[in-house]
Amino acid sequence: MRVAPHTPIALIERYREHLPFAEGDPIVSLNEGGTPLLPAPIISEQVGADVYFKCEGANPTGSFKDRGMTCAVSAAIRDGAKAVICASTGNTAASAAAYAARAGITCAVIVPEGRIARGKLAQTLIHGARAISLQGSFDEALRIVRKLVEEHPIALVNSLNEFRMEGQKTAAFELVEELGSELDLLCIPVGNAGNITAYWRGFSELSVAPRLFGFQAEGAAPLVLGHAVEHPETVASAIRIGKPARGEQALRAAEESGGCIRTVSDTEILSAYRLMAAREGMFVEPASAASVAGLLKYGAEGAKTVVCVLTGRGIKDPEAALAQTEGAIIRCPVDMEAIEAAVLGEA
Ligand code: F0G
Repeated sequence: MRVAPHTPIALIERYREHLPFAEGDPIVSLNEGGTPLLPAPIISEQVGADVYFKCEGANPTGSFKDRGMTCAVSAAIRDGAKAVICASTGNTAASAAAYAARAGITCAVIVPEGRIARGKLAQTLIHGARAISLQGSFDEALRIVRKLVEEHPIALVNSLNEFRMEGQKTAAFELVEELGSELDLLCIPVGNAGNITAYWRGFSELSVAPRLFGFQAEGAAPLVLGHAVEHPETVASAIRIGKPARGEQALRAAEESGGCIRTVSDTEILSAYRLMAAREGMFVEPASAASVAGLLKYGAEGAKTVVCVLTGRGIKDPEAALAQTEGAIIRCPVDMEAIEAAVLGEA
C-alpha cells in the first residue's frame, strides 16, 4: 500500500513511552487524539479569564471515548479476545462498535432503553454491534456487563478497563504540550467518573497540577450528594448516571488538585449549550455544555487560563438541539415574495 503524505500517527504510537504498549504490538486506530484547542472569546469575556475549548468531539466517532478505545481494543486484540462488551449511555457504545468493526471482532453493547441519543444509536448499529436495549438504567447495565465478563471470554471496554484510562490521559498530555504550566483550571463534565480520573493521571505523570472542577447534572449528582441516585434524571443523557464506577477516584482527583465536584441544573446546561452554539459557533452535546455551564455559574475563581473539555459533538443528539429550536424553521410556499420576506426577516 502506498503511504499517503498525511498518514496519521496513531495515538498509541505518538505516546508509546507513556502507554503500556510495546513496539510491534497490534494497534487498532482510527486516527484519534490530536484534537483542537480553541480560544473561546465570548466565554472568556464573561468569566474574565482566557478560556479555551478542548474539542474532543473532533475524535473519529465524535467523542473523547476514542482515546481510550484505541487502547482497550488494541490490548484486547493483543490478548486474543474475539469480542468486546460495554454498558453505555451512548458514546462508549458508538466508539466500541467502530473500533471493533475496524479490528474485525464482535462488539456487544447494553444501553438503557429509550435513553440514548439517536446519533449514538445510529453509529452503534451501523457499525454492526449487537445492541441490547435494556429495560433498566445505565447503572444496571454496567452491573450486568461486569457479571457477564466474569463468565464469558469477552473483554470489558468500559472505563473500568485500565487501558481506557491510559488512553484518555493523553488528552492531559496534549494540554500540557500546548499550555504548559500556564493551565490553571480544567472544567469537565462527570458521569461514570472515568475521564476526570484519567486527566488527573495524565497531569500527575507530567507533574502539572491545574485545579479540576468537575460538574454533574443536578438530577444525577451522586458525587455531590454523597450517595447513589436510584433514578438519575437530566437532559444530558450521556451523564445520566447514579452510581459512578470511578466515583471515589474522581473525588480524590478533584480534592488533590485543589478543586471540587459541583452541580449544574438542566436549565444552566441548556443555556450554556445555546450560548456556545449561537455565539462561539461550537455545537456540542448537552453533557459537554455542563463544563461551560459550571464555569459560568461558579466563575474562574482567580484562574487566568482555563480549559473546558467539550466531550462530544452536538450532532450526536439532534433531538436535544431541535427541542431548543422548535418553531424556528420558516415554512414557505414556492412564492418569491414570501420567500424574500422570510429571508430578509420581514415575515
Ligand atoms: N461527556 C460525554 C459526551 C460522555 O459521553 C460521557 C460519558 C461523559 C461526558 C462523562 O465521562 O463517564 O468518564 O465521567 N459517557 C459514558 C458512555 C458513560 O457510556 O458513553 P465519564
